[in-house]
Amino acid sequence: MSKEIKTSKISGFYKIPIAERVKIVKKFSDLSNEDARLFTSYLDMDIAERMIENTLGTFEIPLGIAVNFLINGKDYLIPMAIEESSVIAAASNAAKIARIKDGFKTECSEPLMIGQIQILHINDIAGAAKKILGKKKEILNLANDQDKVLVKFGGGAKDLEVRILDSPIGKMIVVHLIVDVRDAMGANAVNTMCEALAPMLEEITGGKVRLRILTNLADKRIVKAKAVFDKEKMGGEHIVDAFLESYNLAAIDPYRAATHNKGIMNGIDALIIATGNDFRAIEAGAHAYASRSGQYTSLSTYHKNENGDLVGELELPMAVGIVGGAGNIHPKAILCKKILGIKTARELAEVGVSLGLAQNFAAVFALSTVGIQKGHMSLHAKNIAVMAGAIGDEIEKVADIMVKEGKIKLDRAEEILKEIR
Ligand code: MEV
Repeated sequence: MSKEIKTSKISGFYKIPIAERVKIVKKFSDLSNEDARLFTSYLDMDIAERMIENTLGTFEIPLGIAVNFLINGKDYLIPMAIEESSVIAAASNAAKIARIKDGFKTECSEPLMIGQIQILHINDIAGAAKKILGKKKEILNLANDQDKVLVKFGGGAKDLEVRILDSPIGKMIVVHLIVDVRDAMGANAVNTMCEALAPMLEEITGGKVRLRILTNLADKRIVKAKAVFDKEKMGGEHIVDAFLESYNLAAIDPYRAATHNKGIMNGIDALIIATGNDFRAIEAGAHAYASRSGQYTSLSTYHKNENGDLVGELELPMAVGIVGGAGNIHPKAILCKKILGIKTARELAEVGVSLGLAQNFAAVFALSTVGIQKGHMSLHAKNIAVMAGAIGDEIEKVADIMVKEGKIKLDRAEEILKEIR
């Protein structure tokens, strides 16, 4: 008997009723009935109460699935938690185009996070810096004593760097502790190590330690994704050229780069939230990384290859984990990781950056051609139709007429509804 090929390439997923979509995802990701029931469940209040303080309830946003993703030769259905319309459709469409030329290919550094320890009031800054480097082994050993489990799994403090910085309040040393955090996001492990090192560093330098905290500019934990977008599918080489004209503004102008990067984060954040990771950390790292040359610029780059196809690349820090944190407590985050079928934090990061590239391509593609309002308008029209009282098939019918007429207004929706009833 031939084995069924597992593919994320699904046409018209948006047209299928929700229950059918759930069945498809259940089959693709081998979910149990209990898993599938979670889609429509709410977070238990006792879990919510344990996650934050002063809990009153929970706040729902939609969870959807981006289809068509082929990343490093593997098919993925990508869960996205997001309140904005068109984002999931756009990512799915971009992934469909990327598939023509083998989908997304990624590269990833080791999962190295950086902890910062700030030391002030040092008499001999250069001498203290030398002494710290001389005691590197002892410092790393003490750091690693804090997390035996991480060390057992091949992680732990691997190196340190000493920076001397000048400031309006005088010179200071900032020690960077480089920690391999394996499959964790790493904040807890790194912060615990930094706090534990403070007394030792004060003793070595004769100074006073103030801040002890990881940096979200995780520039040693970089993930890159690349994809080729077929020129014919885009509508011809002139569209590739139009795309590059749009992209170039993001490369030179921070005003455009901010919006361009926001489009990238539309995708990445939605996955980060769905998997229970810290999207503020990813956002902070991404935008700081976008400024690494001294000027804020686009996180992605694009060029045309010898065939006239569009090549897109995206690179950014990805401090994500699959162990620890909210992702291990929130049942839907656990479910979303199961849907993805990821085995490591690295794989999650690679999916995230591919999704970010797809999202960015889709936005700039739309902006270079028809603009984004067309896509937004059809969903907006459906919402207006519902507000006018449309139900079932009527919603689509009323929305279609309004979009065709280019007039999406409540009074018009009410009129159309009367006409078609
Ligand atoms: C909207 O959420 C995102 C876009 O503005 C991104 C972009 O302009 O590239 C469409």
